[in-house]
Amino acid sequence: LSQENQSILEAYEWLTKLYHHLLRFTKDGKEGYSYFKDRGVDDDSIDEFQLGFAPNVKDFTAEFLSKKGFHQQLLVKAGLISVKDDNSVTDRFRGRVIFPIRNHLGKTVAFGARSITDQGPKYLNSSESELFQKSKLLYNFDLAKRHIRKESEAVLFEGYMDVISAYQAGIKNVIATMGTALTESQAKLLKRYVDTVIICYDGDQAGLEATYKAANLLQKSGCIVKVANLKGNLDPDSYIKEYGSDDFKDKVIKASDTYTSFYMRYLKKDYNLSLESDRIEYIEKVLKQLAMIDSSVEREYYLKDVSNEYNISITTLMDEVKTIRQKIG
Ligand code: UTP
Ligand code: MN
Ligand code: MN
Ligand code: MN
Ligand code: MN
Repeated sequence: LSQENQSILEAYEWLTKLYHHLLRFTKDGKEGYSYFKDRGVDDDSIDEFQLGFAPNVKDFTAEFLSKKGFHQQLLVKAGLISVKDDNSVTDRFRGRVIFPIRNHLGKTVAFGARSITDQGPKYLNSSESELFQKSKLLYNFDLAKRHIRKESEAVLFEGYMDVISAYQAGIKNVIATMGTALTESQAKLLKRYVDTVIICYDGDQAGLEATYKAANLLQKSGCIVKVANLKGNLDPDSYIKEYGSDDFKDKVIKASDTYTSFYMRYLKKDYNLSLESDRIEYIEKVLKQLAMIDSSVEREYYLKDVSNEYNISITTLMDEVKTIRQKIG
């Protein structure tokens, strides 16, 4: 690690502690504390994730770190402050709750910061640096690692709050992509630790599309993919709040779909299945997918569903799949 990056890590360590202390024990952080309380985050989780609050003061952070001997240029590089032409300094994070983003060794390398009012962008992150590249990092990987290994399964979320809620509910093999796009490098990282990844993205359209993309990347990396059964338009955090931890564990995580079931459902969005021509196209597309499954038991399992749902005999479907399999060799 360069001297400079070493110093940046030190700055982040000071700030992680400071923001957390303010939130947990002082009047200046009370807004942040109440915010997390209102969202159902308990003290243990606040401590475990070192959640914090950055006061709404223009140069609070710059002042604090400059007193500790950190140079302005370094703090700019660290993505913590900006300096204008007239040399006036502004903190990047003001009046926001802070989620320290730790690298895989447990060191804070960036902050995610959420607005606690309706103003401004909902989330702001530290800008990217040598130490923090969002595309290479998974939120909470350092804490989740041993649980992921133990269960040889990981649950993948979009956001900070999803991870924290699940962790608080006792599901600890949990990580997040911090947004929706999983990258190849994150998929490869996961593959080193697990066989199976359960994707549990938000229940909205963006989450659905991102699930499809992530599933394909993970499969390419050699992971077995499952897709959590998140009903309605909720995200995992709001689902847990609405239905409770046990329901989430039993009906969402344990009831995950196989990739194939997910795909069959996902594909429907491209077709108007009340039209006969669309229905036929859809079925043919599904059969192509099923033809790639090597186990004949597994193939038949899904073919039965298709047979029942569209009233086509199972022998016809099996013949068709056989033909496709011969073509693809
Ligand atoms: P979401 O947009 O799903 O957050 O982004 P959310 O669930 O509505 O947020 P809450 O629950 O109201 O707090 C999921 C994740 O994507 C990243 C963050 O990591 C967030 O947790 N994100 C989102 C950003 O980095 N920047 C953004 O502007 C938005
Ligand atoms: Mn566990
Ligand atoms: Mn989302
Ligand atoms: Mn969400
Ligand atoms: Mn949410």
